[in-house]
Amino acid sequence: MIAVCIEPGSSDSLRLEDRTEPAPGPGDLLVEVLAVGICGTDHEIIEGDFGHPPPGRDRLVLGHEAVARVLGTPEGSRFEVGDLVAPIVRRPDPLPCPPCAVGEWDMCQNGRFAEAGIRGLDGYATERLALPEEFAVPVVAATGALGVLVEPASVVAKAWEHILHIGARAVWEPKTALVTGAGPIGLLAALFALDHCEQVYVLDRVADGTKPALVGDLGAIYQHEGLTAIDQRFDVVIECTGDTGLMLEAPEKTRPNGIVCLAGVAGEGSSGAAGFARDMVLENRTMFGTVNANRRHYEQAARVLAAADHSWLERMIDRRVPIDDWRDAFRREPDAVKTVIEFLPPGSPSAAS
Ligand code: BGC
Repeated sequence: MIAVCIEPGSSDSLRLEDRTEPAPGPGDLLVEVLAVGICGTDHEIIEGDFGHPPPGRDRLVLGHEAVARVLGTPEGSRFEVGDLVAPIVRRPDPLPCPPCAVGEWDMCQNGRFAEAGIRGLDGYATERLALPEEFAVPVVAATGALGVLVEPASVVAKAWEHILHIGARAVWEPKTALVTGAGPIGLLAALFALDHCEQVYVLDRVADGTKPALVGDLGAIYQHEGLTAIDQRFDVVIECTGDTGLMLEAPEKTRPNGIVCLAGVAGEGSSGAAGFARDMVLENRTMFGTVNANRRHYEQAARVLAAADHSWLERMIDRRVPIDDWRDAFRREPDAVKTVIEFLPPGSPSAAS
């Protein structure tokens, strides 16, 4: 059985390897992977800047965004053979800390969590997996291979849940939102934003192509001339690029009581924190970082994707690479929105059938 593997901490170590078939334990589903999405975190791991192998090993199976089909179920399972699932990325810390103890591993307090394909646990870029049922989220058949978007959508679902919690600190009726970055997280953030706000702007650098078209078709407003060209303030700003400059400018784009949500992972070396912190306090603004998601966020993500315009979602995945050309999938394509590796082409017979 093949798997895309990496040695975290060393660049140029990405390989396709032979792995032994999974041996599901009690409570595990046996699943076959249909597709795996690639994101900025994967690129950081590939470049040797991030990631940890499972304890006692050097190499890690990559991949944390996936959709898979059930091949075998444990006794008393709520799943059936043939069902689609999206595997959850994070596993609670073993202690567990108070949030992990109640299934809120996305808010883990002691940092001893594991993340499949990222940190201490093999990921999903492989043909078959043993997946603990409690970390499998049902994906309705109609969503199909688009279930590969459940994980990035779960991150956005969590971001919006927290935005709404913070907003509820006072009377607050958000009407406008700005999303910076029209990558997959930015586009999904805009999709969710339109459920809460009348007007949604999306800012990106590219002037034409898929991104402006996707934003326009969603009913949001695309802007590519920079933040200063947007002569408006917003109730919510969701920063999805990780760009430090944008992060620092974002609070200025909020109205009083506005909320800035950081959903993009920044590099190091931000500056000007003092002036920024002052504005944050004086106008009651809130800025928060967000990472990961728990089960309810995944479940919400799966519901939103099921109800969304599937042809729009299909267009978001603008690079589909068969596993035979796996190396090609990891080539950076700056203008591509979402690259997905296909382990099983859509419509292919399942090993279960
Ligand atoms: C994943 C998250 C994960 C984060 C940090 C992101 O790409 O979507 O689930 O927590 O990386 O490892």
